[in-house]
Amino acid sequence: MDINYLHRELITTEDGSSSLKLLDVEEQYHSIHGARNESLHIYINAGLKYWSDKAEVHILEAGFGTGLNALLTLQQKSSQVIHYETIEAFPLSMEEVVMLNYISNMDEESKRKYYAMHACMADKIIRMNEHFYFRKRIDDIRKVALPESQYDLVYFDMFSPDIQPDLWSESVFQKVYRSLKNSGILVTYCAKGDVKRALKAVGFELESLPGPQGKREITRAIKR
Ligand SMILES: C[S@@+](CC[C@H](N)C(=O)[O-])C[C@H]1O[C@@H](n2cnc3c(N)ncnc32)[C@H](O)[C@@H]1O
Repeated sequence: MDINYLHRELITTEDGSSSLKLLDVEEQYHSIHGARNESLHIYINAGLKYWSDKAEVHILEAGFGTGLNALLTLQQKSSQVIHYETIEAFPLSMEEVVMLNYISNMDEESKRKYYAMHACMADKIIRMNEHFYFRKRIDDIRKVALPESQYDLVYFDMFSPDIQPDLWSESVFQKVYRSLKNSGILVTYCAKGDVKRALKAVGFELESLPGPQGKREITRAIKR
């Protein structure tokens, strides 16, 4: 089935935070049990905090989408320097971005930064503040070339393997594995058997961690 990834609508998840839903298939950008809670649990707590002792962290996010993971990463109060790179094939329009409620209670400066991340289409590095550098590439994770041994942390946040099985394949994971430094980690909401087998096949060591509300397990994969 041909899915139109631009055919989507706004939803509100159970923690009150917005998300988007694809209209051609049963698939949301986040858990219906809480977009914000899910992002914090998986990408911040099981991912970024894993490296809380590190002065500088290089992050790759597969699937920028609503920018929620990037926003939550930017909001972490720490002196750590973050280099955030993200890849997105089907960016949101500004009409969609302004409907999301992530920044409604934030100051003008934070709002400006969130919109700047969405507006950034030209593959250039933006300095958000002295601790946060941002780069977004409009590209396909299957085709994009990634640098070798560059990242400490990968947020792997693609649509589910039921919808896009080829994005959870050994060929994509191999490329991501090579792009990580030794001991680097990949975190994802997905704990499906096939996905775990593909991660192991390219060399990752896996940890299953408790999931957020509505999800039993999530996966952290470590490059040894
Ligand atoms: C589950 S959503 C999550 C997005 C995001 N992390 C967020 O918090 O909103 C998956 C994202 O991957 C993007 N995507 C789908 N296929 C892709 C591909 N081949 N390459 C890169 N991004 C893709 C989608 O457009 C969508 O934004």
